[in-house]
Amino acid sequence: MGKIVIAIDGFSGCGKSSTAKAVAKTLGYTYIDSGAMYRAATLHFLTNKLSPTNQSDVEKGLATMLISFQLNPETGAQDTYLNGKNVEDEIRSMHVSQHVSELATIAAVRKELVAQQQRLGKGKGVVMDGRDIGSVVFPKAELKVFMTANLETRAKRRQLELLEKGQEVNLEEIQSNLAGRDQVDSSRAESPLVKMPDAVEVDTSNLTFDGQVAQIVQIAQAKIKSN
Ligand code: DC
Repeated sequence: MGKIVIAIDGFSGCGKSSTAKAVAKTLGYTYIDSGAMYRAATLHFLTNKLSPTNQSDVEKGLATMLISFQLNPETGAQDTYLNGKNVEDEIRSMHVSQHVSELATIAAVRKELVAQQQRLGKGKGVVMDGRDIGSVVFPKAELKVFMTANLETRAKRRQLELLEKGQEVNLEEIQSNLAGRDQVDSSRAESPLVKMPDAVEVDTSNLTFDGQVAQIVQIAQAKIKSN
């Protein structure tokens, strides 16, 4: 029984991160949130007023940015750090959400973050979620999952998530942000979001959280057994 790589891709707000986190916990695997890395990079560019479309700004941004994850003993989750500062909450703000898709279209940014993600997953035993994990980061992942859910369900879930963090945002704003990101993520030239032919599709619109976790864990355990 060998450790495997589990790649979970899908649209914004399908519950990929929370599902991937729970799947990793059940299997005793490490969870890596690749979206958090694009968010942290976006925060870095915004804070330092660097333009994603200016080549020298991009070079400067990448050279001065160190993204890492550290276990938060209080929550048991991996928090995202940018140049030594915990930015876990800041990177989930609407301000960062509004700019992240643009930075994620930049080839040099993707190249750097993909290399970091591949290093993090080298030892296997990881669950990584994102948009290009099964297609670009780990094209040989033993298990690829493509998560979907309808737009309204996704917006409501995201609204609740933000509310739990004390941010009140109206549903229309969230819905249009998600729709906009779906559009950019799926149509960009660099590593667009695609469902790989060997990916298992999980539509979570009518599934409970526990149901979707159980479904993926079951498929993963079968893969682990046969690996
Ligand atoms: O998963 P998320 O919503 O936190 O991701 C934030 C943005 O980062 C998303 O709009 C697209 C981008 N992203 C990406 O391009 N590739 C990934 N592997 C993960 C995220």
